[in-house]
Amino acid sequence: MEYLKIIGETNLSGEVKISGAKNAALPLIAATILAKNEISICNMPNVVDINTFLKLIDKLGGTFKKENDCIKIDTSKLHNTTATYDIVKTMRASILVLGPILARFGHCEVSLPGGCAIGQRPVDLHLKALEAMGAVIKINHGYIEASAPNGLKGAKIVFDKVTVGGTENTVMAAALADGETTIINAAKEPEIVQLCEIIRNAGVSIEGIGTSKLIIQGTNKELLNIKDFDVIPDRIEAGTYMCAAAITNSKLKINKVIPLHLEAIISKLEEMNFEILQDENSVTVMPTDEIKPVNIVTTEYPGFPTDMQAQFMALATQAKGTSTIDERLFENRFMHVSELLRLGADIHLNGNIATINGSKNTLNGTDVMATDLRASSALVLSALVAQGETSIHRIYHLDRGYEDLEGKFSNIGANVARFKE
Ligand code: EPZ
Repeated sequence: MEYLKIIGETNLSGEVKISGAKNAALPLIAATILAKNEISICNMPNVVDINTFLKLIDKLGGTFKKENDCIKIDTSKLHNTTATYDIVKTMRASILVLGPILARFGHCEVSLPGGCAIGQRPVDLHLKALEAMGAVIKINHGYIEASAPNGLKGAKIVFDKVTVGGTENTVMAAALADGETTIINAAKEPEIVQLCEIIRNAGVSIEGIGTSKLIIQGTNKELLNIKDFDVIPDRIEAGTYMCAAAITNSKLKINKVIPLHLEAIISKLEEMNFEILQDENSVTVMPTDEIKPVNIVTTEYPGFPTDMQAQFMALATQAKGTSTIDERLFENRFMHVSELLRLGADIHLNGNIATINGSKNTLNGTDVMATDLRASSALVLSALVAQGETSIHRIYHLDRGYEDLEGKFSNIGANVARFKE
């Protein structure tokens, strides 16, 4: 296994380029199952989760070719309809093939994703939506077995909870269903907007893109002609580098971003007394005289993202005063707290609320363990300001979602290197 060694008390400077969004790319790869043509997707992040999803496409009978940051995917000969446990257990996003495969082939089998490090994460809402469209779903030997012998029919779906993956699966299923599907309480994340736009550009009528009510006119199993496109920038990777600038109190320009997607992050950094300069495709974080504490509640887009909660907790350890973070989406997304305590942070947990006292504000380097993707990035940020050396173990979590993390951090002045245990 590999680990990262970071020497702290660093100042960062210069510019960093953000990669394509992992969480946009995953459903977009799944959407290629709806197509009859080869599609070239560019600005693909080079991260482990994308490679895992491509492996799944390969196992299902599709093909792919990589060329720089572009990947050409052809699912026209896809024939296998089962996403097996060996892949699903390593990546829950595999569930995203359920909607498109079921809509195209009339049946699909996906291993049930188990719980995960950040919470139980059930998929009941995905299944309920597909059932409303006529699917018959059984759970057998740990597999979701879905069938729709007469095809999926358009339906009215009201989500009990806002679900990113549930909305994505339903949109993809609705694109090939027979008739009109209305999704009420749909998720509005930029990743969903891009998925809807790509499907709409392939000729499927979708109204309400970017709102909580989507109306989709299905093609009744006629496969789509999806045009080539670029993946949108990763707003969470961008937010992570913004927090890296803030925690080290450095000036850093973050390029190739969509500032509109970063509004909640920018607004919280401003509350913490950072000035953020913006232009069309970049944001620059400016140093501050004093980092102010902040109160954060995680919620759906356009609110503050749960995927940035851990990084802001690391930052709050450097604020003058007491901050709070209320995690509302996942019941177990505080695994980083015990590791931050090992670095000397003063954090108290009460249910889903963390209180961070930053007045002491000195962290001391030590050995810590990454527990999930974003928790790991919080440890990297903390290590940048900690006194001495921090070793972050189990960094395979980071590799799932951050492209060339040590290369990008080294380029902006961090002292970071990867070693084998
Ligand atoms: C997506 O997960 C992201 N993953 C997550 O990114 C992100 O944290 C999450 O959305 C919230 O923004 C991808 O896009 C691949 P949800 P997803 O369905 O789709 C509950 C990262 O670090 N729920 O919106 O799985 C669920 O338990 C990550 O990149 C049900 O109860 O999230 C949670 O409490 C990890 N039943 C809430 O809804 C369901 O059927 C939101 O989950 C589905 C979800």
